[in-house]
Amino acid sequence: MRTPILSDYLLQHFDKHSAVPSNQQLYRLLRKAILDRVLSANTKLPSSRDLANELLISRNTVLYAYEQLLAEGYVEGRSGSGTFVTDTVPEVVALPSKAIADTVSSSAPPTLSHRGHQLVEHAGAALQQWGAFVPGVPDVTQFPHHIWSRLQNKVWRKPSPDALTYARGGGYLPLREAIADYLKIARSVDCVPEQVVITAGIHQSLDLCMRLLSDPGDLAWVEDPCYWGARNLLRTSGLRIRPIRVDAEGLCPDAEDYTQVPRFIFVTPSHQYPLGVVMGLARRRILLEYAKRHDCWIIEDDYDSEFRYSGRPLASLQCMDNANRVLYMGTFSKTLFPGLRLGYLVLPPTLVKPFVTGVDELHRAGHVLTQATLAEFMTQGFFTSHIRRMRALYASRLASLQESIFRRFDGTAVTAIGSDAGLHLVLKLPSYCNDMAIARDAAQAGVAVRPLSLYYHDADQALPGLLLGYACVQQAQIASAFDVLAGVIERHL
Ligand SMILES: Cc1ncc(COP(=O)(O)O)c(C=O)c1O
Repeated sequence: MRTPILSDYLLQHFDKHSAVPSNQQLYRLLRKAILDRVLSANTKLPSSRDLANELLISRNTVLYAYEQLLAEGYVEGRSGSGTFVTDTVPEVVALPSKAIADTVSSSAPPTLSHRGHQLVEHAGAALQQWGAFVPGVPDVTQFPHHIWSRLQNKVWRKPSPDALTYARGGGYLPLREAIADYLKIARSVDCVPEQVVITAGIHQSLDLCMRLLSDPGDLAWVEDPCYWGARNLLRTSGLRIRPIRVDAEGLCPDAEDYTQVPRFIFVTPSHQYPLGVVMGLARRRILLEYAKRHDCWIIEDDYDSEFRYSGRPLASLQCMDNANRVLYMGTFSKTLFPGLRLGYLVLPPTLVKPFVTGVDELHRAGHVLTQATLAEFMTQGFFTSHIRRMRALYASRLASLQESIFRRFDGTAVTAIGSDAGLHLVLKLPSYCNDMAIARDAAQAGVAVRPLSLYYHDADQALPGLLLGYACVQQAQIASAFDVLAGVIERHL
């Protein structure tokens, strides 16, 4: 069956020669057609075979796009009748009808820049941020808010004008000192407090690095699979992305990769996101030597290494860097709570001054009293004791989850990997499994998991799996939530 409006729209916008893989391109075009109301609610999509024939692409490409739309709730399957656009796209995202006509007839939508489009089209943040098994979210209910509010009252008692006017870009000095002290001990980071610049988290640290150190067209090596947020931010900054394979020892560039010298190398060496491997010592040395020889910047994202339960605890990459090539990033999103929006960037000494100026010019520094509260929280020992307590709590949640996995899948091809550290593990699935479809069915059954294939540069090359966060699930719910998930997985095996 032909859907004329859709066919015209797709034939007009689908580009077979684009660098974007066909399945991703089709998925984005269909999603855009739904959001822009080119396809209205309850419209029936053509069968995958018809659409594949029409666009002269493989049926698998269409199936992938449909699965992804299903997983995200843009369309729904009605048994025996086909796939229909759901009736849940909120009115606020709908464009007025004239704008729809303009959007359909021109290849350049009227409002967003090219950069804006890149950002929105590759958006990866999940709507659900709490409950079984949302990855990457700590148990915020355990945060000692009574201590925090006491410290906050203290710093608010008589704030100095400095705390309430525009602040200096590097951040509140006692907090920079507390972070430097902590990082020296916990992560062997080699720094003085002046090298620590306070930011609103790793996303902002990355944004600063891009604005101050990159030019459009620069090349970035990015782990594959990779944290979607970092990849999207680098891409949106105009960088060319080169996905680099990850193996059991971390980033694994091949001979061809080495000939394409990047300006940036983005890595999560202490706990690769999402697979969970630790970058080995030999790999670290090679990477640092290569960066030194070719003047590359290594971005070390050390987002959750506080939570290690077993395996090799390795110090930071930064402490092995004798050529000032590493930009080290950390965050309080995992150790305390994501809504705090505080993180830090440890810079080579020569970059401190321009970065502090950069913060002043771009963001105007502030939140001094929140930083002062955090400084008190750290210097009075509450930070390290909170981490210690949470590590024990997460370790026992992890053990419950591993036990549940063992009970249902021991001796099968469904295996857990990456469970030595962090807030999630990866459940590897047999290669024929469609992790998008499983995640969609699990969501319908009330369990949130993220498909591993989402984290790969090219979905066609992706290994199927599921990211299961165990930190924000109460211990008592783990076994029953996993049983629901296991039932869904078994239906796909
Ligand atoms: C690998 C990685 N880096 C960075 C972040 C985000 O850090 P922030 O909240 O400080 O921006 C996340 C969040 O999940 C992450 O998984």
